[in-house]
Amino acid sequence: MKIIIINGPNLNLLGKREPEIYGSQTFEDYFKDLQLRFKNVELSYFQSNIEGELIDKLHEVGFNCDGIILNAAAYTHTSVGIGDAIKGIETPVVEVHISNIHAREEFRQHSYISPNASGVLFGFGLKGYDLAIQSFL
Ligand code: DQA
Repeated sequence: MKIIIINGPNLNLLGKREPEIYGSQTFEDYFKDLQLRFKNVELSYFQSNIEGELIDKLHEVGFNCDGIILNAAAYTHTSVGIGDAIKGIETPVVEVHISNIHAREEFRQHSYISPNASGVLFGFGLKGYDLAIQSFL
């Protein structure tokens, strides 16, 4: 099974960025744990701060892997383009957010990803990615 995790803007700063919201672990460290926990899954990881690069990656992997786990971060709330990209590909996308976006500012409560996602997980910290992988298994 081939699964890719795609993270959007500012998630390269995990571990340093607002640790009271996003925790103190880097995604690179957490990703190593995931690879150990899910040895039978071909896991890959991509992060970009650039909307078009996220769309290009969705197009690239969206016809040849089994699952996409997408945390589009701030673009979740603004990007019609990423929402349309998910509609245009075949691979199912699970939307993940580390924080509970519904307990935060109003503008975080709208997602262009959710209507096109096969499932949504938020508020479980980094564990949400773990749960998303399990949902594909
Ligand atoms: C986030 C929530 C978004 O609102 C925010 O812009 C992020 C991270 C999360 O994982 O909780 O950058 O997607």
